[in-house]
Parts: sequence; C-alpha cells; structure tokens
Amino acid sequence: MLYAGIDLGTSSVKLLLCDEKGVVINTVTKEYPLSLPREGWAEQDPADWYGKTVEGLIELVAGRGGELRGLSFGGQMHGLVMLDENGETLRPAILWNDGRSTEECDWLNNSVGREKLAEWTGNIAFTGFTAPKILWVKKHESELFARCKRIMLPKDYLCLRLCGEFVTDPSDASGTLLYDVKNGRWSPEMLDLCGITEAMLPTVRRSYEPVGLLKKEIAKLLGAGDVIVASGAGDNAAAAVGMGVVGSGKCSVSVGTSGTVFITSDSFFATGGEAVHSFAHADGGFHLLGCVLSAAGCNKWWTEDILGSADYTAEQEGITSLGDNGVFFLPYLMGERSPHNDAFARGVFAGMSLDSCRSDMTQAVMEGVAFALRDCIEASGLNISEACLCGGGAKSPLWRRILANVLRMRLRVPVCAEGPAYGAAMLAMTAAGEYPSVRDAAEATVKMGEPVCYDTETAAKYDRAYKRWRGLYKALRSWFREL
Ligand code: XUL
Repeated sequence: MLYAGIDLGTSSVKLLLCDEKGVVINTVTKEYPLSLPREGWAEQDPADWYGKTVEGLIELVAGRGGELRGLSFGGQMHGLVMLDENGETLRPAILWNDGRSTEECDWLNNSVGREKLAEWTGNIAFTGFTAPKILWVKKHESELFARCKRIMLPKDYLCLRLCGEFVTDPSDASGTLLYDVKNGRWSPEMLDLCGITEAMLPTVRRSYEPVGLLKKEIAKLLGAGDVIVASGAGDNAAAAVGMGVVGSGKCSVSVGTSGTVFITSDSFFATGGEAVHSFAHADGGFHLLGCVLSAAGCNKWWTEDILGSADYTAEQEGITSLGDNGVFFLPYLMGERSPHNDAFARGVFAGMSLDSCRSDMTQAVMEGVAFALRDCIEASGLNISEACLCGGGAKSPLWRRILANVLRMRLRVPVCAEGPAYGAAMLAMTAAGEYPSVRDAAEATVKMGEPVCYDTETAAKYDRAYKRWRGLYKALRSWFREL
C-alpha cells in the first residue's frame, strides 16, 4: 500500500509517495508565489496552495493511484486563513513570518499580560502567531472581519478542500495562541478576547487520526479508491516525526526557510522563560520550539538575490577555515522570533575590512543562522548533545559542520531528507492502521546517515565568536526601533 505526505511550505508544496516500509517511490515539488505587499508583511493565496497540491498529487501517484491508501499533511504554521459563509477566502492568508501585528502583540503581552496568556495558552504573543493577526484584521479590515465565518491554518484549508472536513490538530492549534496547549482545548478567554466563537474554529483531532476520505472527484483524478485522510501536523512537528524525533528527550534542528530547534517531552512543559514556545507534538506528546524566522531563507536571499548566483556549492567552495571569520551577520531579514521577539530587527553585516571577500560574507550568513539557532537552545536552558538535522540547509556539508561546531552537538541527518512530507506520510500510515502508533511508524521507517561531529578546538573558537555576535543585536536593538 502507498501513502502520500504533503508538506505545504512557504515557497512550495513538496509531495512524497512511499510504501508502508517508508521506501520513497516518488517526490514532486510545486512552487507558488510569496507576496510581500509591505516591508515585514508576508501573504499567500490559499487557492495557489490547493491548485498546486492537486496538480502535484496527480503527478505524484501517476499510474499507481489504485494503491494509494492514505495521505496527510505537514503545513507552515500560524498562517491566518479566513473564509466567508460561502467558503470563499476573504483575503490572502497572513503568514507565520508576517510582522504587521506588533501593536496587537504589545497589547496582548503588556496590557492583557504575559502571565495570563501563559496561563490560558501556555505561550505569549509573537507577531507570527494567529491571534494577534486576527486582532489586526478586526481593527484594520473590520468589514471583512464581520463577514468571517471560519478561521483556520494553512494545512487545514487544504484538508477542508481535499476531504470536506473542518479539522486541525494539536501541534498546529498550539501556534494560534487560541489553544490551551496543556489542557488540549480552545481557550475560551482567548476566543472572547479576539471576538470569535469556537464554531468558527476547526475541531481539533489527533495528528494521526483518520478524519475523512479524499473527495471522490479528486480520488478519480488520481485513479484512486477510498483514500484515508489524517489530520496532519504543523511542519516542524511533522518533520520531527519524519526524523524519528518522537517520545521524550529528543531534539531536532531544521534549517529551512525558517530555522527551528524542536525538543520533545511526554508531558507539557515550559522552560527558559517565554522565548521558546510550549506546543503539542504530533505523537500525542509535547515539545519546546525555538524559531529563527529567516534561516536557509537568508542564504537564498544572499546567494540568489544579492550575488546573482544559483550555484550554492561554488559559493561555499572556498570556505575552509571555521571559527575565525571577522565578518558577522544578523539573520533578521523578517524580524526576529526566539529569543528576542522583535519584529523590528533587520539583517546586518558587520566587521568587514578591506580584505574581507565574497566567501567571508557567505560564511557569515551561514554562521549567523547557526548562532541564531544556538540562541534558541541557550534560551531553552537545556543541555543538548545530539540532534537530528533537516531542511534545505542540511544538504550543505559545510553548513552541517558549522552547525555541529556552533551548537556543540552531534548532528544526525536522515537518509530521507523530506522531513515534513515523510512525517506526514507516517501520520497517514498510523491513521490507516499500518502501525499502532506514530512511534512505531517512525521506528519501522526512519533511517539515519553518518553523524556529523564537532571538534573541540573549532567549537571553542565559535564560543568566542558567538559571544561577539550576541553583542551586535544588543548594540542595535534601539536603532532597529528608530528605523
Ligand atoms: C514555527 C514557524 C515556522 C513555520 C515555517 O513556529 O513559524 O517554522 O512553521 O513553515
């Protein structure tokens, strides 16, 4: 039997087809546009997500639709999708890296109060989260808000269109700031505060629960019969499943458009103050999440947009010496989430001299992202010696070495690099009864490659560089606000 995993990303939807043993049969990627209507804003048209997903699914299963037994999702988190009474989108989705809701966040964190938010939801407000964006729409687009009948997350929009069920899952619900993570229910206080009702929100179903069947007309396009659809997970939780980061006390690091540090636990926990999020995991447990808003996104911007190159390997070729680069880079191109929670922060190069060269700058970009990920780990207050690594950035051997040394970790890269899509396929397998639990599915399917280790001399150099790098944001924080 075959299973499809759909990773609804920020630049593209990535689809993966595998058998019940996790052997990958096919992968398809379909890109769609990202709209940046103003500085710090990020939007997408949900119709693009749906259109490209159906196109991708047809290509993915080509000729083997009859064997398709289940599918599920991993989706970019926090996005605000609003539908009217006819099920039409009211406006483009406002994405996870959109910084427009700073005033709403200030009000939530400082007037309503961080303690109350943490008591109701387990978290505080960040501009990317869904609730502050609902408040923004309510204030700035009040007529549109009045017509809103349904609010959902990106992957839940796909699920609704593909199988007709209005559902979400605990991991994605966690990132809305409307969900009481610890008690597993929508927070009545937060709903009240945002002026919405529970009927406007999807029903929360476990990530690995079958929620319906693929609509007949879509199944027909694929040549498929009854295809079980599972609720799915936020992309980070799905990626963690895809790397076997399930159960307690495990860690994964992702270097995708965003960068994240993901730490699992069997029970709800909050540590390290408010900088890292306390969310539900897709395996029925919980996790901590630290998020860098621009990670591989910085390298894409630097390499493609600024250097005008498509050859990432060539740009990184000359970089051999690690730990003594005089050039530093703050990767805050879309503001900063963990630990500073500063939507005004921006990217900065610093420390150049006349002998600084192109590759020093490239190296600084990669190191800046690694330092920002170390910030997330330091903010968690936990001591972590090993993690699984995924995301586009993990493909670069140089970036892997930089990360291992900066984070002082042994990094393990899975053989199947399609993290969220692979994890989503495992959620579908569990929903279809192929495995009794997500953990069993992961144990049976995930294969790991050779670990990347740090060396103490380079790691010590990076300890010093990290301290210097940290000073840069501190020195510029008030300047960013003025800017
Ligand atoms: C996590 C986050 C990002 C998005 C990227 O909190 O905002 O990792 O999920 O898709």
